Amino acid sequence: MKRTTEKLLKWYAEHARALPWRARPGERPDPYHVWLSEIMLQQTTVATVRKRFDDFIRRWPTVRALAEAPLEEVMAAWAGLGYYARARNLHKCARKVAHELGGEFPSTPEALRRLPGIGDYTAGAIAAIAFHHPAVAMDTNAERVIARLFAVTEPLPGCKPRLRTLAHELLPRHAPGNFAQALMDLGAIICTARNPACGLCPLMDDCAARKQGLAEELPRKQKNPPKPHREGKAFWIDRADGRVLLRRRPERGMLGSMVEIPSTGWDGAPPAFAGRTPFRLEFDRVRPDVRHTFTHFHLKLALYRLPEPLEVERARLLPLSPGWFWHPLEKLDTVGLPTVMKKAARLFLESG
Ligand code: ADE
Repeated sequence: MKRTTEKLLKWYAEHARALPWRARPGERPDPYHVWLSEIMLQQTTVATVRKRFDDFIRRWPTVRALAEAPLEEVMAAWAGLGYYARARNLHKCARKVAHELGGEFPSTPEALRRLPGIGDYTAGAIAAIAFHHPAVAMDTNAERVIARLFAVTEPLPGCKPRLRTLAHELLPRHAPGNFAQALMDLGAIICTARNPACGLCPLMDDCAARKQGLAEELPRKQKNPPKPHREGKAFWIDRADGRVLLRRRPERGMLGSMVEIPSTGWDGAPPAFAGRTPFRLEFDRVRPDVRHTFTHFHLKLALYRLPEPLEVERARLLPLSPGWFWHPLEKLDTVGLPTVMKKAARLFLESG
């Protein structure tokens, strides 16, 4: 084993973060826990997943239990954990493992990669952590540590294959899971993107970037084009008996299958009910607008509400398309609104 790897594993043995999905020393990792945590961590910070992971496991203690859960419940429980396509893939993957693979996750990156929602990084992480398979798991933390250790100055994403090769050269065949997690923890605690604590780093004597005074500059990144701005409108249509009109979005596309406050498309297209109501709906503007940034664009949502809740009998005259429903206001928290819609709901509730 390379000296650098030895130092890294020794540091990990002493400083590993205690995280709810990790096996304690001497325990066998549970592949279901490892898989679930890796899917959650694809888009969400460790701090958030730390709070939410145990709830998921308590509710669905095995992959079979998750596979049997209704998709709507899984989607609702996923709210705030990032893209909802992920929750759909999570459920699809659980069903595949439960129904086609006898409830056992496969142990190689190649076989894991064939499951829904599992890309190169996640396949490597699960294989290494849950099954001690000699795979590397290159997330942004691991990439940063390796780029600095070897002073790789070529920008991301172009240098990814080289970073992977360099990581492979350090990979200890007897402890691939600890190696993967040691890189993640070192990247999160010491070798941080800004202000790295090089003076405390177990690899300080081996780090080429440190020697060249480049640590904080690496890894370099290809500049992204600026995100476009989009706009839309959301409508709060409430009823005298304390219900509000919601709609489940189509399965395909942004926030697929998630529940929303009825909205125009985010390019200004009219809401689905426009022109079809048997009476005119008049709205008041609610301020401020909601601003939310998605991966690929910034969104500004202008908010409109009815001046008064509709009488129940009058509300019944509205022809609802499939997917539209009246939902009790006191249960708004559990319907699984995506973050952008939670922001809107809060402003509507405060304005009423
Ligand atoms: N980020 C992604 N996977 C992780 C893990 N297993 N431990 C800590 N941080 C992570």
